[in-house]
Amino acid sequence: MTVVPGELMSIVLGLAIGFTLARLPRRGRRESEIAAAQPRGNEADPRFEQLLRSLRVGVVLLDANGRIATINPAAAAIFSLEARNVVGRSLIEAVPSIELDRRAQAALEGHSSRAQLSIVLAGKPRVLTVASLPIESGGAFLIAADETRLHELQRMRSDFVANVSHELRTPLSSINLMIETILSTDHDEEALRIFLPRVKQEVDRMVQLVADLLDLAQVESGRLRLRSEEVDLAAVAAHILDTFEPRAAQAGVALRFSGEPAPLRGDPERLAQVVVNLVDNALRNTPSGGSIDLEVRHEGDTATLRVRDTGVGIPYSDLPHVFERFYVVDRSRARGSSGTGLGLSIVKHIVEAHAGQASAQSELGHGATFTCEFPIAAATG
Ligand SMILES: Nc1ncnc2c1ncn2[C@@H]1O[C@H](COP(=O)(O)OP(=O)(O)OP(=O)(O)O)[C@@H](O)[C@H]1O
Ligand SMILES: [Mg+2]
Repeated sequence: MTVVPGELMSIVLGLAIGFTLARLPRRGRRESEIAAAQPRGNEADPRFEQLLRSLRVGVVLLDANGRIATINPAAAAIFSLEARNVVGRSLIEAVPSIELDRRAQAALEGHSSRAQLSIVLAGKPRVLTVASLPIESGGAFLIAADETRLHELQRMRSDFVANVSHELRTPLSSINLMIETILSTDHDEEALRIFLPRVKQEVDRMVQLVADLLDLAQVESGRLRLRSEEVDLAAVAAHILDTFEPRAAQAGVALRFSGEPAPLRGDPERLAQVVVNLVDNALRNTPSGGSIDLEVRHEGDTATLRVRDTGVGIPYSDLPHVFERFYVVDRSRARGSSGTGLGLSIVKHIVEAHAGQASAQSELGHGATFTCEFPIAAATG
């Protein structure tokens, strides 16, 4: 993330102004004079050139005709340009943004400005903060910082707060409604019998949500302390699968296990959490009569955990997003109450904290397969 503090901006400006005055042609000169005044490498103070090269903010110097006189490597990277190909070209030719060009033209006419611009560069939308400043003797500076990442983080943060609030508000309003009903019936036995278990269910859901959020906060911030023990992934998986038997039997889904010893260094509880999340998802999304296969393989220096189901599958367009937090494909598809969409993002982080990789394959209507691959030699913790 690149931020341009005002102070840095002034230092750059001060230095760059001195640098440019020596290099830029004066406004109003004839073409031949301008050509004669084009920058010659030996005119510039090498200290300024070095400074410009090492800056992380982008600096572009425009001559009085709006042509690029100098562009530092940071600006070339920000605008996705090859510096040597754009010197001498007009700004709009190099960066096809009317808004940027308008601000550059205003600076050439003596008006400075500073703005956040959304520009598509090399096919990708970017958010840039650009300051455009006139140079008294002619020409202008553009100073640019790429704030796309910062912008994304701010958006993610507000999405996160909105999602959490929504997820907590839903069970809270239904608890509220059920308690009001119990109170309005004067603690009628029948009302208690019907509503108390459902109140308990909603409270359990909130407790689980808060636990997942805490887990996620830990893994995302890198503060998750992993135990580093010799663990047999197959033994962990087989044990977890057993605990799902009653639920699978009730749902009419067959659970099958096939595995070979796959010893790796890791945290047995966190690895169990991965298996729980994947089998829970498979069970929720597999109708009665279907099956779930859990497989653990040890091939070369990789331990592979695979959960394959014959359920509803995941649409192709949703597949790249299922590991994102709060991503739920379609709430109406899951068996019973739908989840919050945190399980797979926790899975991904735990697998990555073990130096592994998690991936998903699926064909809509033909089940889904989740694969986690762990390097056996990796030391963790
Ligand atoms: N085996 C699967 N078959 C079909 N869809 C799946 C499967 N696993 C996950 N999905 C889809 O991916 C979404 C995200 O899964 P994830 O585990 O992150 O969230 P969740 O199960 O909805 O909620 P949580 O795990 O937080 O209780 C699910 O809502 C579901 O739509
Ligand atoms: Mg889940």
